[in-house]
Amino acid sequence: MIYTKELAGIEENIEILMESIEDEFTKKETKRLISSGGKRLRPLFLILAAKAGTINKKCYEAAASLELLHTSSLIHDDIIDHGEMRRSRETTVNIYGREKAVSVGGILSFFAMDKIISLGSEKASAAMIDTLETLCLGELKQLDERYNFEIDYCDYITRISGKTASLFALSCIMGGILSGVTEDMIKKLYNIGFNIGCSFQILDDILDITGLEKETGKVCGQDIQGGIITLPYLLLMGKDSAFKKKILSVTYKSQKPEFDELTSEVRKSSALEETYGVSNLFLDKALEVLSSLDSPEVEEKFTYIIKKLYRM
Ligand code: IPE
Ligand code: IPE
Ligand code: MG
Ligand code: MG
Repeated sequence: MIYTKELAGIEENIEILMESIEDEFTKKETKRLISSGGKRLRPLFLILAAKAGTINKKCYEAAASLELLHTSSLIHDDIIDHGEMRRSRETTVNIYGREKAVSVGGILSFFAMDKIISLGSEKASAAMIDTLETLCLGELKQLDERYNFEIDYCDYITRISGKTASLFALSCIMGGILSGVTEDMIKKLYNIGFNIGCSFQILDDILDITGLEKETGKVCGQDIQGGIITLPYLLLMGKDSAFKKKILSVTYKSQKPEFDELTSEVRKSSALEETYGVSNLFLDKALEVLSSLDSPEVEEKFTYIIKKLYRM
């Protein structure tokens, strides 16, 4: 792998950071989640973006903090989504219940935020606080849209921009800020992270429909069963009025076979291919900005991760 060295640095910094969590329960649970896997995309993006400037120790410290922030957002996301499995293991909420999971997620996010603030960059701290507000608003929007199957493409994009793309964008700009790149470069890095983030969430939404649990490590079919409509369903609704009627008749009281039928219809339809197409549009945009960075190493390493992620 061309980024083995970066990944090793990230793991080392995550280990050091986790050791300094004061609350013993939060420390133990964070270690359990971190050791269960994860792709480390956000810290990797931060480190690769930092290569556009002068990479330094603070970049690795921020990368580790961002992975812990991501972990806390997953703990809270699993509470909201009633997620039972993550990275092939039971979720925090499933083991310890909602109250405890809310607390652990909260403590972990404040801990990670504190570490970023302690790096002493006002710009990085401000970007982080801004992003966290956007991320929470994205999750709230999703919650408000539960069982509302009449949302449109713009609602969907606003939701995924907030809940997912914002953190990818933050990872990239934080790398740029801490390594001292120009404003123009930070704007480009923002665009790269944002577009990859949207593309990535669309893929995750496809995987919820087509994926195997032993590969995703999560319970599949969970989005629609939780009343969350994603792009493949939206696209099929636009083309198939019988499907649209069926989906609009679903309520929180509907049973699993009804949801399974909807998922299976999407699986058989051309809406999946079209959804891949939309994901690729965001990816292409990211690649276009990437090539304008004028930084061969950043471009090469980002492209490598993207190819792995998209199995290209
Ligand atoms: C999961 O993110 C949440 C989404 C934004 C889809 P990842 O797929 O990056 O999760 P891990 O860290 O690799 O488990
Ligand atoms: C991403 O959305 C959640 C966060 C941004 C934390 P999902 O709800 O689709 O993520 P998974 O599928 O549970 O990982
Ligand atoms: Mg979820
Ligand atoms: Mg998902």
